Amino acid sequence: ADAPVLTIDGPSGSGKGTISRAVALRLGWHYLDSGALYRAVGVAAGWADLDLGDAAALVRCTFDTTIAFRDDPAGEPRVIVNGHDATDELRTETAGAAASAIAAIPEVRAALKDRQRAFRRAPGLVADGRDMGTVIFPDARWKVFLTASAEERAERRYKQLKNKGVSVTMDGLLREILARDARDANRAVAPLRPAEEAVRIDTTGLGIETVVAQVLALLPARM
Ligand code: C5P
Repeated sequence: ADAPVLTIDGPSGSGKGTISRAVALRLGWHYLDSGALYRAVGVAAGWADLDLGDAAALVRCTFDTTIAFRDDPAGEPRVIVNGHDATDELRTETAGAAASAIAAIPEVRAALKDRQRAFRRAPGLVADGRDMGTVIFPDARWKVFLTASAEERAERRYKQLKNKGVSVTMDGLLREILARDARDANRAVAPLRPAEEAVRIDTTGLGIETVVAQVLALLPARM
């Protein structure tokens, strides 16, 4: 039988990444950061100087880009794009915006489908993204949809980036988050929306441990 899957979808800054990694670690399961795949293609397109309006070139770029995840005992997994460690570049708002533009192209999404499904291996998978529960793993045993107010999400991003020494303003971040939300929610293919059966958790004002506990509490019921 296929390995069990827990999907955690939600908008940027909802805490998906942190929560998903923590839950995967706790369970000893594999972890898929699907946003990193879109970001990797965005970064590779930038390296190749591609026009974000040239869908055909971006689709070719998706097929040509190699993406590997390497565990880093010191922290988050490293992401190797076309043989280069692109972990830091992937986190920039430029990469996020490029990812969101590229993610609206149906052929790009189709090209990444199998690569995402390949992460499903025993003993289980925690998959983090926008369409994990709706499109990539519709048969997932557990589906979670995380939200948080736009202000709180901007604040979290602000702290994250400040810790990394990136200079940003709260206002600019809030505007970027709202623009990316609108683009992700309104695109024709795989728009950001909760799977019908997803358990929704609003993480506004909640600490990481509280949310991790709420997610883990869902599991025994269908183990
Ligand atoms: O989650 P993250 O912020 O890294 O995702 C970057 C962008 O990639 C999102 O804004 C979204 O447009 C796209 N994405 C997607 N489907 C996913 C994951 C990410 O369309 N499953």
